[in-house]
Amino acid sequence: MNKNLLKVKKFEPEIEDILSEVIDGFERPQKQLPSKLFYDKRGSQLFDQITELEEYYPTRTEIAIMEQNIDSICSVLGENCLLIELGSGSSIKIRLLIENLLNPAGYVPIDISEEHLTDSAEILSRDYPELRIMPVYADYTQPFSLPNFDFPYSRKVVYYPGSTIGNFPPVSAKRFIDSVAEWAGKGSGLLIGVDLVKDVKTLEDAYNDRKGVTAEFNLNILRRLNREIGSDFNIGMWRHDAFYNEKESRIEMHLVSLADQEVRVNGTRYRFRKDESILTEYSYKYSLEGFKKLVSGSFRVDEVWTDKENKFSIQYLTAF
Ligand code: TRP
Repeated sequence: MNKNLLKVKKFEPEIEDILSEVIDGFERPQKQLPSKLFYDKRGSQLFDQITELEEYYPTRTEIAIMEQNIDSICSVLGENCLLIELGSGSSIKIRLLIENLLNPAGYVPIDISEEHLTDSAEILSRDYPELRIMPVYADYTQPFSLPNFDFPYSRKVVYYPGSTIGNFPPVSAKRFIDSVAEWAGKGSGLLIGVDLVKDVKTLEDAYNDRKGVTAEFNLNILRRLNREIGSDFNIGMWRHDAFYNEKESRIEMHLVSLADQEVRVNGTRYRFRKDESILTEYSYKYSLEGFKKLVSGSFRVDEVWTDKENKFSIQYLTAF
C-alpha cells in the first residue's frame, strides 16, 4: 500500500436520514426524492455509463475543453496547489490535472459513494505514487471536516467538474458556492464546469438516450429505496421522463406513475395517481452572464474556457 494514500475518513449516512428525507419529499405537492440517492454502487456505475453516451455531450465537451486548454488552465492554477475535488468520480479529468499541474501539493477527493471513492483513490495512488492522496467520504452538501493539511501548499483549488452545480436550484447553488468560499478561504480557487443554455433538442436528447441508460439510472433510485428503507415500489409501474423547462432554464427529471397505485414507506402508504410524478433531479443551464451573477457574492470570475459551439464552459474563480 502506498504510504501517500491516506485511509478514507469515515462517515455513514444514517438510514433514518434517508427515510426522513424521503418522507419529507413525499409530503410536498410535487413529490420529490433527493438526487444524491442516485449514487449507490450501481448508480455510480450507471452514471459513468451516462457520461460515455453519444447523446450526452457534457462530459465529452468538458474533456475536450480541458485537453485543448490544459496549459493555460494549469498556469492559472499555479504551482504547488492543493486540489480538492467535490464528488470525485473515476474520471480522466482529474488525471489531466494531476499530470499537467506543476508540483501539486496533494489531492483530496470527496465523495458520497464509499466504494467508488476507495476504488478510484487506490487506482490513482498506484498510477501516481508520488502524489499525496487524502480521500474524504462525505456528503459535501452537508457540513464536513477536511483532514489536517500539515504540509506547505500555495493555495487550495476546489475542483467541481461535470456541471454538478446545475443540479442545485439557483438559490441553493448560490448558498453552496458562498459556503465553498467560506471553508476554502479567501484567495482560494474554484475550477468549475458549467453547462450552458442551448437548443432544446440537444438538451433533451442528452437526458433521453436511446439505450435507456439514463432511464435505468433514474429508476435505480427506487430499487435502492426498496433495499435500504424497505419501501415496496413496483419498479415496472414507473417510467423515466426528462424534459427542458425553458422558462426556468432547466432539465427536469421525473419518475412517472404508470397507474393509480400505493407505495408503503415505513408503515405509511403514499398514493400516486396515474401520470403523477416524483421529481428526482434538476439540471440548470446557465449563460455566462447568469453564472457570473450567481457567484458574484463570493467569487470573481478570472477565466472562462469554452468549446467552439459554446456548449459547455470551464471557469476559474477566485474567492474574495
Ligand atoms: N450534473 C450533470 C448534469 O446535470 C450530470 C448529472 C447529474 C446527470 N445527474 C444526472 C446526468 C442525471 C444525467 C442524469 O447533466
